Amino acid sequence: MLIHSRNDGFNHPVPSEITPRGAYENRRDMLKLLAGGAAGTALASWAARDAMAQTGGGLAKLPGAKSAVAGAQSMEKATEYKDATTYNNFYEFGTDKADPAKNAGTLKTRPWTVEVEGLVKKPGKYGIEDLIKLSAQEDRIYRLRCVEGWSMVIPWVGYSLAELIKKVEPQGNAKFVEFVTLADPKTMPFVGSRVLDWPYVEGLRMDEAMHPLTLLTFGMYGEVLPNQSGAPMRIVVPWKYGFKSGKSIVKIRFVEKEPSTAWNKAAANEYGFYSNVNPNVDHPRWSQATERRIGDGGGLFAKRRKTEMFNGYEAQVGQLYAGMDLKKNY
Ligand code: MTE
Repeated sequence: MLIHSRNDGFNHPVPSEITPRGAYENRRDMLKLLAGGAAGTALASWAARDAMAQTGGGLAKLPGAKSAVAGAQSMEKATEYKDATTYNNFYEFGTDKADPAKNAGTLKTRPWTVEVEGLVKKPGKYGIEDLIKLSAQEDRIYRLRCVEGWSMVIPWVGYSLAELIKKVEPQGNAKFVEFVTLADPKTMPFVGSRVLDWPYVEGLRMDEAMHPLTLLTFGMYGEVLPNQSGAPMRIVVPWKYGFKSGKSIVKIRFVEKEPSTAWNKAAANEYGFYSNVNPNVDHPRWSQATERRIGDGGGLFAKRRKTEMFNGYEAQVGQLYAGMDLKKNY
């Protein structure tokens, strides 16, 4: 996502991409065989659960129940934990994909408070432990598609952001939700660099924020989030490019006007407010028609997959954008 340089995501083969896929091969073959039938669905989600148990990072367990939300149970094989946690964008810790895993150990995730403010009837400071308990944790397997052209499949743990929004009771004139993430120069070595105007801010329209797929996320692979993935709490919006999914959130603000977001401020013609995954709208400097799945192997020569409209979640979210010109509202 660097503004003036080449597209980072296309050019870096990570060591983990050239290692054998190992344990996942069998599971994927089994999933292929089973895909289609009802028994297949049940077993596929069992297999994904099994994958989580085997690939976690040894952090505190965070079990979730299987989610009933439509679109929350992908049939695809999960990306290996080590790939999902060593190839990251978290610019507060550096701009190289390997930097967050190397540097985010300094992030202090307890105590952690999230401030809810703005046009809301119940503003206040919410401790992370209370937020974790606010609603039942669910397992959700989502595709994450980065604007740079790579993607992963991640088993997240969390609950619909809508659960929190309902509890804090937005006022009638609250039209957007703004997410402000931590910007602590003492623990985040790149805060202060001029890459972005810190803190990293993102936002959603109220109906997007209320959509059941929008996940307030506390864990992945059956454990709490590792720091580099946005501990202790992040958002995941699976039909939008990954940069809409802010990490390590400290403020949730309800506002009337469309919030000014970090990437939009940095390069408005490249990173729009909506940023729905759309293979028909190219980034000004590269095509968005295909993607490289991390873990597929082959490095630069990996076979690319076709990118799907709304990242494959069109049936669930397409109606949110009825009547909008998606070329203009990119
Ligand atoms: N959140 C913060 N606070 N800082 C960031 O640099 N990068 C975004 C998003 N959230 C980012 C962030 C981008 S560009 C992507 S693609 C996703 O996080 C990556 O999430 P992942 O590392 O879990 O794959």
